[in-house]
Amino acid sequence: MKKDPQKRIEELRKLINEHDYNYYVLAQPTISDYEYDLLVNELIQLEKENPHLITPDSPTQRVGSDLTNTFNPVQHKIPMLSLSNTYSEEEMFEFDRRVKDGLPKGEKIEYVCELKIDGVSVSLIYKNGLLVTAATRGDGFTGEEITNNVKTIKSVPLVLRKITSSKNLRLEDIEVRGEIYMEIEAFKKINEERQLSGEKTFANPRNLTAGTIKLLDPQLVAKRPLKIFLYYLYSETDELNTHYENLQLLTELGFPVNQNYRLCKNIDEVMDFCKEWEQKRETLPYEIDGVVVKVNSLKQQRILGNIAKSPRWAVAFKFKARQAKTLLKKIVWQVGRTGTLTPVAELEPVFLAGSTISRATLHNIDEIKRKDIREGDIVIIEKGGDVIPKVVEVDFSQRPKDSQEVKLPTKCPVCGSKLFKPEDEVAIYCENNLCPAQIKGRIEHFASRTAMDIAGLGEALVNLFVDMGYLKDYADIYDLKNYRDELIKIERLGEKSVDNLLNSIEKSKERPFEKVLFALGIRYVGAGVAKKLADHFKSIDALMNASKEEIESVYEIGPSISDSIKRFFSDNNNIKLIERLKKAGLKFKVDEIKIKSDKLKGKSFVLTGTLSSMSREEAKEKIISLGGHVLSAVSKNTNFVVVGENPGSKLEKAQKLGIPLLTEEEFLKLIE
Ligand code: IVH
Repeated sequence: MKKDPQKRIEELRKLINEHDYNYYVLAQPTISDYEYDLLVNELIQLEKENPHLITPDSPTQRVGSDLTNTFNPVQHKIPMLSLSNTYSEEEMFEFDRRVKDGLPKGEKIEYVCELKIDGVSVSLIYKNGLLVTAATRGDGFTGEEITNNVKTIKSVPLVLRKITSSKNLRLEDIEVRGEIYMEIEAFKKINEERQLSGEKTFANPRNLTAGTIKLLDPQLVAKRPLKIFLYYLYSETDELNTHYENLQLLTELGFPVNQNYRLCKNIDEVMDFCKEWEQKRETLPYEIDGVVVKVNSLKQQRILGNIAKSPRWAVAFKFKARQAKTLLKKIVWQVGRTGTLTPVAELEPVFLAGSTISRATLHNIDEIKRKDIREGDIVIIEKGGDVIPKVVEVDFSQRPKDSQEVKLPTKCPVCGSKLFKPEDEVAIYCENNLCPAQIKGRIEHFASRTAMDIAGLGEALVNLFVDMGYLKDYADIYDLKNYRDELIKIERLGEKSVDNLLNSIEKSKERPFEKVLFALGIRYVGAGVAKKLADHFKSIDALMNASKEEIESVYEIGPSISDSIKRFFSDNNNIKLIERLKKAGLKFKVDEIKIKSDKLKGKSFVLTGTLSSMSREEAKEKIISLGGHVLSAVSKNTNFVVVGENPGSKLEKAQKLGIPLLTEEEFLKLIE
């Protein structure tokens, strides 16, 4: 006889939860993946046959198929504070002194030291033992609801393993807090895949984590291997005594807790822990940026209380930026798109903070002189927050006897042309507009995401096309389609990628005038200035014919910008380029949008985040063509806020003001 489905479903859920715990929390699976999949498939099948038995805490509901996140505001019952940072032993001793001063004289003080995980903090609320809400920190008082995204993290229990602790505490209604993070290897893998497909890469695991938990679609989140450590437990019961015990309770309840914590009797023991982990941080599979030190007694924590935004009972000991010593083999001068020469240090490759470093920026000649950096020196390099590495200082004790001061180049290292140095600038420039390095730089800038957004036409391909003679300037990009048959024969390319490239080149013709103006690469005309000029002059012809005074009449545009614009248009080569781009069909005036209907008449919209089906410009045009209008900031007069991927602060503002939010799907329906 067939078993009662309800019974079997419950049995399966229990089993799967147990195996999830063994696998994701303890990292000790007791069955094979195959056996595990059998259980999950059986549960899916039974739930399909008995949909009325599906409950939100079923392990099959971690990635619900039609769920999205609402990012609704969530008020934190207790504010989510941040920590004050310390950077030295002295500052840690001061912290200890402040703690002692804040407590009755002679009272015993213990500290708990934990690793400071470099991720994104989150609050989880359990009611009757079930996960009901997950929220971001937000501004500390109000966060955003991300429950459906957090449910995709397999080590987060949807149901607490037990609700009565070994000491008989009932812990079914609790709030726990912790850090969502991604392991370094997983981060690298995702970045590599994104690089291959021409997508934007992330600077570090933390940024990737932050971007992921704000995705609208939990199905996408489930594909990114997020992890979590919990470090805080709150319950209304007054029977909790110490933070150390709380960490043990969290483990008992089934949460992943980073086990590298230690109870310390005094600040010296705390310092030992900090120094030990500053040394050992590279051995961990995830990033930590310091140690968090907390007063152990919860009663003492309450007495100490908070100052402004951080507690008096805890502090973060931050690790120093990671440094390495290596040989500076050579200083080379890189030529940028405007001809600027930038010195770059070529280093003996060294491994630092997760990657091998072989180059570091030296900024300019003044910087080199100030630090007295020379070829052949042993230098100390540093990588702070995973940015471009820099040379901090020279180890003069190891300087070779015959070392020479760095000399400024006398001619362009790429094309051999003369150099010039404007009086009021540190930079030196290559004079030759047709210098291959400048040509490549200009084309790369033209095609970049913030300019013409031609996907696939990055540094490597630009170099290749310039070297092969297909591109001599950026207007040549629009002639590439005439060479399709030749291009697909290039070994690294092939039919599919050439067609993708040609498609994105065609698509770039729809970029609005302000982007085209920015893409031209006029010195000092960045994206913001280009927008101001486009808004004011409306067309390239009007800008070309404007006097210096007229240009300077635009808000925040000064003489160096207007000089540069005049210089650009006085060069006949540039005029010819513009003529060719006009012929190719690029937009050299602002769009006048035809109003086709009054469907959205009187309605105002604000857009935030990226939409997957259209660019922001297209969305704007669509709204205007239907009679609506688009504002750049949220106010109480806004009717709708359209929320794309990775929304910004506008979302928070809209939520505060209670403005209706539209997902991309809802927006598409509206403008259908
Ligand atoms: S305790 C008031 N413990 O660091 C208590 N925070 O700058 C604050 N973090 O927002 C949190 N690891 O995102 C705590 N073991 C840990 C932590 C930790 C990482 C983050 C957390 C917090 C930030 C404070």
